[in-house]
Amino acid sequence: MAAVARGRGLPRAWLCRRAGPGCGRHYRAALCTELKQPLAIEEVASRPVRPHEVRVDVHFCGVNFADILVCRGQYQEKPQLPFTPGMEFSGTVLETGTDVSTVKEGDRVIGVSGFNGMAEECIIDPKTLWQIPERVPLREAATLPVSYGTAILALEHRACTRPGETVLVTAAAGATGLAVVDVATNVLQAQVIAAAGSDEKCKLAMQKGAQSTVNYGQGGLKEAVRKLVGSGGVSVAIDTVGGDVFLEALRSLAWEGRIVVVGFAGGTIASVPANLLLLKNVSAMGLYWGRYKEQNFPVFSRTLSSALQYCQQGRIQPHIGAVFKLEERERESTSRGRSRLPAEQGARCGARSQDPGIMT
Ligand SMILES: NC(=O)c1ccc[n+]([C@@H]2O[C@H](COP(=O)([O-])OP(=O)(O)OC[C@H]3O[C@@H](n4cnc5c(N)ncnc54)[C@H](OP(=O)(O)O)[C@@H]3O)[C@@H](O)[C@H]2O)c1
Repeated sequence: MAAVARGRGLPRAWLCRRAGPGCGRHYRAALCTELKQPLAIEEVASRPVRPHEVRVDVHFCGVNFADILVCRGQYQEKPQLPFTPGMEFSGTVLETGTDVSTVKEGDRVIGVSGFNGMAEECIIDPKTLWQIPERVPLREAATLPVSYGTAILALEHRACTRPGETVLVTAAAGATGLAVVDVATNVLQAQVIAAAGSDEKCKLAMQKGAQSTVNYGQGGLKEAVRKLVGSGGVSVAIDTVGGDVFLEALRSLAWEGRIVVVGFAGGTIASVPANLLLLKNVSAMGLYWGRYKEQNFPVFSRTLSSALQYCQQGRIQPHIGAVFKLEERERESTSRGRSRLPAEQGARCGARSQDPGIMT
């Protein structure tokens, strides 16, 4: 379907003031109506909130790797067309259902939705809303859930990282990588080796707090890490790339080291040679942050609360790669020669982007 924004050009505030809650109102939403095609911006009719639901005025929505995958039909979850992408957002509570007592109108919140954040408003279960502390701006807050939630879960819950341990982070200038670098250095007091595909990306990771870097675009990761830490290896590795980068990170582990499989941005899923686990008593473990929402909600919720708390305390500082307006649906992807994003998102997005080339 053609990518046409069909907003009526009215000020948002006007749209929000019309009629009573949920009655006859409309809001603009980004819609994926066809996979691998640009998103359409359409006016959608508001529906009344049910007793256990909350309506949020969405101010910023994070743009994640998973949003791009889902709009291409390449994500593990495949919502039915048409759908609105956007898994994380920040905003203010517009209206609460009669059974809701945990938030009230006007509260500043972040939310984690299945897919529906790239819209001017969304209706959500209050269980997946967290109050934003006063010193955390809405823009920064929107970028916390996926990347910082994942980083905190990987480092604290899965790898049990201890102060002073050496942490190797691959794709360290990606959204997840930068969050891992930030939490590992500035919260957990670990020594971080940031590995990335260019000198520019390594520089960005250093600015976030990494102690040393490896540009794996210029040579082998394992050898470079060995030069930095000696034959002992690193205590923890957090990998979002997969393929050979994962295997080299696995081979860089120290005795009783831990590697966390977070993603396969490079497109290749490596097999783990079990003998490597045995020889140095190392552990390889997986992490799927979103799955904790169903499987272990207290752990999931703690990642969000911790991220907000660390941000409020000034210990972490999310990196905003770029900010798009809702109607800006197409943008050049600047990394690794990826072609034009077919379904680029943007809902006044606090978009974290990996690539210094599109930083604002
Ligand atoms: N398991 C979970 O719960 C979870 C949560 C969040 C993210 N993830 C996954 O983690 C991965 C990274 O996510 P992100 O948000 O950090 O993404 P991002 O901000 O887009 O960063 C991706 C990074 O991956 C590296 N990369 C290597 N090969 C690539 C390729 N062929 N295309 C694109 N990037 C490539 C690039 O860094 P270099 O050039 O430095 O290699 C790039 O900066 C994704 O696979 C995502 O789905 C998983």
